[in-house]
Amino acid sequence: MNSIIHLTNKSMFTKAIVRRPAHTYANGITTSNLGKPDINLALKQHDAYCEALIKCGLELIILDPDPNFPDSCFVEDTAVVTNDFGIITRPGDSRRLGEEVEIKKVLEPLLKLYSINAPGKLEGGDIMQADNNFYIGLSNRTNLSGSKQLADILTNHNYEVYSIPVCNLLHFKTGVNYLGDNNLLLHREFCSKDDFKSYNRTIIDNEEEYAANSLRVNDYVIVPKGFPKTKMSIEKLGYKIIELELSEYQKMDGGLSCLSLRF
Ligand code: GLY
Repeated sequence: MNSIIHLTNKSMFTKAIVRRPAHTYANGITTSNLGKPDINLALKQHDAYCEALIKCGLELIILDPDPNFPDSCFVEDTAVVTNDFGIITRPGDSRRLGEEVEIKKVLEPLLKLYSINAPGKLEGGDIMQADNNFYIGLSNRTNLSGSKQLADILTNHNYEVYSIPVCNLLHFKTGVNYLGDNNLLLHREFCSKDDFKSYNRTIIDNEEEYAANSLRVNDYVIVPKGFPKTKMSIEKLGYKIIELELSEYQKMDGGLSCLSLRF
């Protein structure tokens, strides 16, 4: 049946930046109560993540670990990138401030760059692009000043920008992710929001909330392993799936999208 579903991909990615977790990874920030991560297993899971991105057609820029920043494998929070330009963020938790410096060095030769400046705070995990729309989650990590600075840059580039309060989750994309083709994965926190009524919404089952952060990359949707209902819902939409074990990243409040910057 899948062959009759016509899927498009308006924003094909060609590259991704990833960063290996450091030996200090277990000292990072977490609220999960899932126990201490095993760095060797985390490295294996990172290898599998990189292989999945290569299977999706991406050329990888793999950065060395930085033990000074235990959360620095979650590169998505340090920049917002489109195919034409990027915005270097200003992470909202002071323990992560400074991770963006290395990412700026990597992106500078590749894209026109802007920056979020103090008192703005903004993390990429709070920013979701859905075709010509950008949604900015106002969370503990992204404040009004950061949101306004980003919105000004994006509207100057003719994107529509919406800001959405995020109350019970770390980042906006912990709970909402756009797959393309008007398909949106949605945590129950956002079910009643009018902003998303025009999308074809898949509401994530209560026990599968971690899988709301599934990731469309070109012809595939990457789904965390162990969430069969979400996997089946995404398959029914007609997508090819890659399943990945993410246990050691879930322990540190990290998801599939956080582990790379795709452009
Ligand atoms: N451990 C990821 C974060 O809190 O940003």
